[in-house]
Amino acid sequence: MTRKQQTKGKPPTHQPLVPQNREMTEPILAGTAATDYERYLRTDELLALQKSPEQRSHPDELMFQVVHQASELLLKGTANELERSREAIGTGDYVRAVKLMDRSFRMLDRAIDLLHVLETLTPYEYHIIRAGLGHGSGLDSPGFLSLLHLAPRLGQAFFGQLDGAGISVEQLYRRNNEFLALHEVAEKLLDFDERVQLFRFHHMKLAHRIIGGDVLGTTGRPVDILRQRQEHVLYKELWEVRNEITARVNAKTRMQDQGHGRSG
Ligand code: HEM
Repeated sequence: MTRKQQTKGKPPTHQPLVPQNREMTEPILAGTAATDYERYLRTDELLALQKSPEQRSHPDELMFQVVHQASELLLKGTANELERSREAIGTGDYVRAVKLMDRSFRMLDRAIDLLHVLETLTPYEYHIIRAGLGHGSGLDSPGFLSLLHLAPRLGQAFFGQLDGAGISVEQLYRRNNEFLALHEVAEKLLDFDERVQLFRFHHMKLAHRIIGGDVLGTTGRPVDILRQRQEHVLYKELWEVRNEITARVNAKTRMQDQGHGRSG
């Protein structure tokens, strides 16, 4: 007899999905919401932070608010992990620093992803919503500003350790096996820098496709400032060392070539 035939007609024996003990489902945290889930996450307040359907200037406005608010939360989370990572670099705990940076990047990547949700907004719909934004500008985004304030301090923590080890950036890359953990921190800083540039690039493209690249933003500044800011790098030394390494390798190759009797 097959297993299917054996169990045919018998009541199911699997465990119930909900706990039997009612006490376990009663809320025990302080608050007035029906469940501990809602009390802990303060969902009543969180979900009241968006305009009601009657208040919305356009049905797309909820999406607009949700994307912006969720971005602020993700950027807040990103900055928090990066701050912890800065502390870890300061104490020489590079493994922890790298772990925290990786976590922060996962959050930052989601904030970048969210920009693409806004690409589904059409220019005319955006202008209806924009009429209610006042002088509101992403230049005042607390989340993004906190990343910009943190970035140099994160760099200081790293360069402080480099000074302590008595090596230059080029030496760190040349002797990467010897300074593996600190080298990994340098690479993570570069990852962070690249992600900030990616955020700015995708955001700039979003602004271009919705309001255009040759107009003024909500604060009267030209949208072209987005391109200028996008070109900015956080850790110039880490990018420039690549040029130095290539130049050194090229010079060495030339010398070897000449040594073999070839002219360059
Ligand atoms: C329809 C969507 C959006 C448009 C059309 C838009 C447009 C703009 C424009 C024109 C600027 C330049 C400054 C100004 O004139 O205000 C700006 C800056 C900025 N916006 Fe947005 N934005 C959008 C969505 C977002 C979202 C979802 C975020 C996420 C937090 C964001 C974050 C920023 C940041 C951080 C800046 C400063 C850029 C920098 O430092 O390079 N924006 N935005």
